[in-house]
Amino acid sequence: MAVDNRFAQDHWEKRDRESPGRHSEIVTGPVSDWASDFSHMEPEWAADPYPIQDELRLRCPIAHTARFGGAWLPTSYDDIAAIAHDTEHFSSRAIIMGNFRPPRELAPIGGSPPITSDPPFHHDARKLLLPAFTKTAVSTLEAPTRAFCHSLIDAFGGRDVVDAAAEYAHQIPMRVIADMLGFPPEDGPQFREFAKNTLEGINLPPQERVTRMSALFYYLLAQVHEHLEKPRDDLTTFLINAELNGRKLDVSHVVGTMTLLLIAGTDTTASAIGASLWHLAKNPRDRERLVDQPELLPLAIEEFLRAYAPVSMARLVTQDVVFREAEMKTDDWVLLPYPAANRDPAQFDRADEVIIDRDVNRHAAFGLGIHRCVGSHLARMELRVALEVWLERVASFCLADASAVSWSAGQVRGPHTLPVRIGR
Ligand code: HEM
Repeated sequence: MAVDNRFAQDHWEKRDRESPGRHSEIVTGPVSDWASDFSHMEPEWAADPYPIQDELRLRCPIAHTARFGGAWLPTSYDDIAAIAHDTEHFSSRAIIMGNFRPPRELAPIGGSPPITSDPPFHHDARKLLLPAFTKTAVSTLEAPTRAFCHSLIDAFGGRDVVDAAAEYAHQIPMRVIADMLGFPPEDGPQFREFAKNTLEGINLPPQERVTRMSALFYYLLAQVHEHLEKPRDDLTTFLINAELNGRKLDVSHVVGTMTLLLIAGTDTTASAIGASLWHLAKNPRDRERLVDQPELLPLAIEEFLRAYAPVSMARLVTQDVVFREAEMKTDDWVLLPYPAANRDPAQFDRADEVIIDRDVNRHAAFGLGIHRCVGSHLARMELRVALEVWLERVASFCLADASAVSWSAGQVRGPHTLPVRIGR
């Protein structure tokens, strides 16, 4: 594989100059009406999006905003599912809604296959990844993940108050994905910065966003160089050697998929672990029940994923279409809030309650349709091990200061800071 740094510049900078995408104005600030001016970047949404989504589900089938150059927001399970399954009218060529739409020529591959790919390319790009994420493949990572969780709790060193998000939830997926990709474990904190820039930097001016995204790109390119020199048994070497239709992958495909795994694998799972601990810190009865009956944990995990689903994904409209009376125009965004689908009372009994032994639970936390999460077995393993170790070592805990808890804004929502008081 020929890789030089000129390629990196081409990738981010020339591509946009030669084939410009659509830029729109940066619009932040208070929402006047959630049905006609919604924004998932505002503090109210980050703090508690559920009442907003519940109200919208009753008020209008599909909310709209002129922000981000025009975007739509379905909130019922059925509408979200219908759009997620309709790849003809709704493209994945960009899945993080922001002020910049990448050029249409990027489809059907997109910048980070397979999540940014449309059919027919999507199928093969996804198939390539599946063997690395089967239940069996993931089970080999369980023992090191467990040992790492214990080492994080050892590092609490007898303190009464710890940040369960920064010192625990966020650390676990960073270490797991760094090991899988064969990156130095001490680079973990950088990944957090990369993920923040990708997911929360959408209101930055386009040039600054390009500059920040380039930092991630150069980091990954350096890893590709290093793996070309010293191949080893990890996902990066696997992608470098992988073939599609008898040809090695383009370097842009390799780096794009590495970007996806790094971003999809870290903040998402950290948010799920953090939100579960937040729930248990606030609900002593559920916490005590799980300590006494650890066999309930698999059901509880599915319920935490349903009730606190961290991920919303975006689509771009491929051609003018009327969907449930919404007159959607080519290149409008549609935000798919899987968390809202999971709270739709038409789909789930007592949808707004967290019932840790709920037994029928076909939730949409991992998405719906052809892009359903490839990493779901890995995410479930990390979530289970993280909670098992925590409950074994820190059976009694509560929020140290509810007002100090903060949540990330944007398409991946989870606790940023989560100070908890550990009981003795
Ligand atoms: C609790 C943790 C996680 C949640 C809630 C989650 C959620 C999702 C969702 C909702 C999608 C669908 C995207 C769409 O509709 O466009 C998705 C796709 C994907 N996820 Fe995850 N994810 C998690 C963890 C992971 C992990 C740990 C990995 C791997 C390291 C991963 C890799 C992927 C990949 C590769 C796709 C793209 C699949 C495709 O396009 O065919 N995810 N995830």
